[in-house]
Amino acid sequence: MVRRSIVAGIGAYLPDRVVTNAELAERIDTSDEWIQERSGIQQRHIVADGEMTSDLATAAAQRALAAAGLEPDDIGIIVVATSTPDETFPATATVVQSKLGCANGSMGFDVQAVCSGFVFALATADNFIKVGQADTALVIGAETFSKILDWEDRSTCVLFGDGAGAVVLKAGEGDGSNADRGILSTHLHSDGRLHDLLYVDGGPSSTGQVGHLRMEGREVFKHAVTKMSAVTIEALEATGLKADEIDWFVPHQANRRIIDGTARKLGITGERVVVTIDQHANTSAASIPLALSVAVEDKRIQEGNLVLLEAMGGGLTWGSGIVRW
Ligand code: ACO
Repeated sequence: MVRRSIVAGIGAYLPDRVVTNAELAERIDTSDEWIQERSGIQQRHIVADGEMTSDLATAAAQRALAAAGLEPDDIGIIVVATSTPDETFPATATVVQSKLGCANGSMGFDVQAVCSGFVFALATADNFIKVGQADTALVIGAETFSKILDWEDRSTCVLFGDGAGAVVLKAGEGDGSNADRGILSTHLHSDGRLHDLLYVDGGPSSTGQVGHLRMEGREVFKHAVTKMSAVTIEALEATGLKADEIDWFVPHQANRRIIDGTARKLGITGERVVVTIDQHANTSAASIPLALSVAVEDKRIQEGNLVLLEAMGGGLTWGSGIVRW
């Protein structure tokens, strides 16, 4: 028998305020037509003044815990994937721990892999569970990218939104085959030589300022399709699964054209692809758990389904995961 990390609950949270493309077009030189054609985005949610990443993360976590039927103190490890922490330190995970009311001294820390953050956090928690250092985990992707956007730069500010999603993992046992419920594989990569394609031009030890997101959009686009399809093929080969056995493909929601290009390369047809970019825009580390939560809520993803996740983000970082729900 092998230990498996089984998804026991999922939850999401989006800030109340919705900003449409038309509203952005009143402030900067852009149009609904341009944004929809180049990215598929129709709207994004943006936090209110004073609303922080930890608030979104805590709300998503509470919903995931309720879905799993667990209390905060049942959790052994909290991993928050974010590039927009409340503060430089401490980790947002410890703030969430406090806001949830955890008093059990369990571990909490952040993972920084930008848009790949959720996959990196999921892999981290899975490994803690597999080696027996935790029996339950809360894995959260939460971002307030609206705080690091240059709202004068139309080539980037139209693409992102705020939000959070969370999953609860519980240790279970399987026979080690692909029939097991739980996380069947994770594959992670990074290449720091590609830093300049997507980064924030500030930080505590460089400028002392938070900085703004900078991106070479066309180059990121090219790397996104090739790297995300390569890392999903790596996952399929490692597990011996075929693309047509995947029930749901839940990619990082970066851009509709990237999602379609990657799905086409994998031979996964449109009706098996979960797309939320139109409603949420790119919420970085939150995008995959937000999309998962929508598809669980509307009953597309059912227990026993095979779900394929993939993402790429600043670093560059990229990764994939296969989960039997
Ligand atoms: N509104 C109107 N026009 C715009 C806007 C805008 N918001 N932004 C740029 N333009 C203009 C440019 O100025 C340019 O005008 P020009 O031809 O007169 O110089 C024209 O549109 C074309 O610009 P490009 O940058 O070449 O447009 P492109 O077709 O490459 O689309 C985009 C840009 C959407 C950023 C695309 O490159 C892309 O999707 N890249 C991937 C980036 C991404 O998804 N990043 C997310 C983070 S990384 C991740 O999550 C994987």
